[in-house]
Amino acid sequence: MNTIFLNQVNTILVVAMICGITLFTIQPVFAQPSAQGNNVVDKAVFNGWNIYRTEACGSCHESTGEGNVSNPNLLHSMKTMTREQFRRVLIDGRGIMYSFRGNKVVVDGADDLYIYLKGRSNGVVPAGDLIKKK
Ligand code: HEC
Repeated sequence: MNTIFLNQVNTILVVAMICGITLFTIQPVFAQPSAQGNNVVDKAVFNGWNIYRTEACGSCHESTGEGNVSNPNLLHSMKTMTREQFRRVLIDGRGIMYSFRGNKVVVDGADDLYIYLKGRSNGVVPAGDLIKKK
């Protein structure tokens, strides 16, 4: 084996090593969007979340939807509730929960609220602030 050949092998090894180190170093940059990306949601989910927090659903059901001793856990309710049953509770009220019949934002946004809470319930939508998909 001559030295020119050995030099080429060395060069290839060094280049491969540099590529490996570079990929390893920048890999977290690539990983970031998927790790944080689940709070980026479509228009309906975003709208539902907005209504949930601005129309005070969270004042009883908590900001996470998980409820407390006096108010039901909506994440649990949404596993079995149909869209129509959900809408009825909002419009008629139930027990301590007053009716939202006169609240146009809630009535018109009932489907988006349903989609948002359904997403929270099946774990697709995280608690906390959401970002609307561009
Ligand atoms: C004043 C407190 C209060 C507010 C505000 C409130 N809720 Fe409720 N909600 C309750 C209580 C209490 C119940 C349980 C009523 C019962 O079954 O007696 C309930 C029940 C429900 C149910 C039915 C749950 C089930 O398992 O049957 C849904 C769905 C619901 N609320 C959604 C909402 C949404 C969406 C909002 C906001 C638009 C909201 N609630 C605002 C107190 C509240």
